[in-house]
Amino acid sequence: MKIAIVYASVHHGNTKKLVDAIADAYGTELIDATKIKEKNLSEYDAIGFASGIYYGKFHQAVLNFASVNLPQEKTVFLICTHGGSAAFGSIEAILKNKRCSITDRFSCKGYDTFGPFRLIGGIAKGHPDDKDIKSVLDFYDGIIKKMQV
Ligand SMILES: Cc1cc2nc3c(=O)[nH]c(=O)nc-3n(C[C@H](O)[C@H](O)[C@H](O)COP(=O)(O)O)c2cc1C
Repeated sequence: MKIAIVYASVHHGNTKKLVDAIADAYGTELIDATKIKEKNLSEYDAIGFASGIYYGKFHQAVLNFASVNLPQEKTVFLICTHGGSAAFGSIEAILKNKRCSITDRFSCKGYDTFGPFRLIGGIAKGHPDDKDIKSVLDFYDGIIKKMQV
């Protein structure tokens, strides 16, 4: 099964912690959308999009990557880290246009020192933690099992 995860992780590497854990455990290909702008995804069985949440959205590099490169009707899964709350709407709007099916969504807190939070030492300190990493691995395992059925 050919799977890639397209990600952006620009604040504290929180999202990268999650996708690195998946890549280490499963050998999944990672595509850093802040560096790679174009790629043919037609051969992939599923694509993951992973991002921190910035101003209520997935990172613009991930959104652009999806708009440009994601073929119609692909199987997609989503991962985000956030200081406050998960927000999948920005990426889901693109996926809807491309008639892609979303198998699952994962979110967890990520250390956040943006704006005034810096003054109090940040929020969600220590996240993603070991428990979050285990949860994302369970999530990914579930996706693979679902696709094998
Ligand atoms: C510019 C900026 C804007 C952010 N906006 C939000 C937001 O709207 N909602 C939220 O829950 N977290 C927000 N955060 C916190 C990040 O989503 C959180 O720290 C995330 O884990 C960062 O992931 P990364 O380290 O992979 O970039 C923001 C952080 C930054 C730097």
